[in-house]
Amino acid sequence: MQIVSTKAEARAARAALGEMSLVPTMGYLHDGHLSLVAQAKADGGAVAASIFVNPTQFGPNEDLSRYPRDLERDLQLLQGAGVDLVFTPTPEVMYRQGFDSRIEVGAITQKLEGAIRPGHFAGVCTVVAKLFNILQPQRAYFGQKDAQQCAVIRRMAADLDLPVEIRICETVREADGLALSSRNVYLSPEQRAAAPALYQALLAAKASYAGGERRAEALRAAAKAKLSGAVIDYVSVADKVTLDELDLVTDGALVSRAVRFGATRLIDNLILT
Ligand code: PAJ
Repeated sequence: MQIVSTKAEARAARAALGEMSLVPTMGYLHDGHLSLVAQAKADGGAVAASIFVNPTQFGPNEDLSRYPRDLERDLQLLQGAGVDLVFTPTPEVMYRQGFDSRIEVGAITQKLEGAIRPGHFAGVCTVVAKLFNILQPQRAYFGQKDAQQCAVIRRMAADLDLPVEIRICETVREADGLALSSRNVYLSPEQRAAAPALYQALLAAKASYAGGERRAEALRAAAKAKLSGAVIDYVSVADKVTLDELDLVTDGALVSRAVRFGATRLIDNLILT
């Protein structure tokens, strides 16, 4: 496994690999990230991963400085997963002095996470586009856990004719249903104990839909169950492409919810079928 941290090294290493997939990450890897690597491996060709805690997608009051990091462990996990190339740039490599551009995707970045985290998706899109340009993968893998990020990146890739196929992988969960997230380490034991209720609430909406309920407002109510100690940021039943809130629901709709335990935000979602 080759580990590179400059753009010149990355381009040279990439050129030697032929057909290649990319798994972009911010590190502190868990089985969710590794499931993306496994899917990329299964789909064939070489696999690259990037580890970069991207400052431009964090708001001023967010967790950039305390975002968890463990590069040694991450590299071991990626090596074990059979990754060919790891790109670990510094902020200075990615954002040279004078850097002053960004990619703004429209309406879908203003809702849900975007409404609560202004500028977040411009940061995500800009860094993902840069990673695509530096590493030039044929395919890139993202997790359904971040459903809005998937929709936004698909929109960007389609709108800007980016020559990369976007593939989405299912959310990997703990045994009790909590979606794996690098941020779960922030949870106190009490918060961790309460957190699985987030997925349970989404499942309640799914059960209601399976039972014939088609009114989005009723499904939102079903997904609203309280998590002890948490504040709700939003409960949404929306079109999974446009993220427009729905009145009446059909198969394929996205139920998503965000809660906050103090400064720690948890998000989760599922697709109704
Ligand atoms: P990060 O939070 O590290 O996540 C990297 C990828 O792993 C994302 O595509 C995310 O959706 C996926 N992922 C996270 N938890 C998952 C889970 N439980 N199951 C399946 N996939 C999961 O998302 C980012 O980094 C950044 O925004 C990035 C795209 C790297 C741009 O900076």
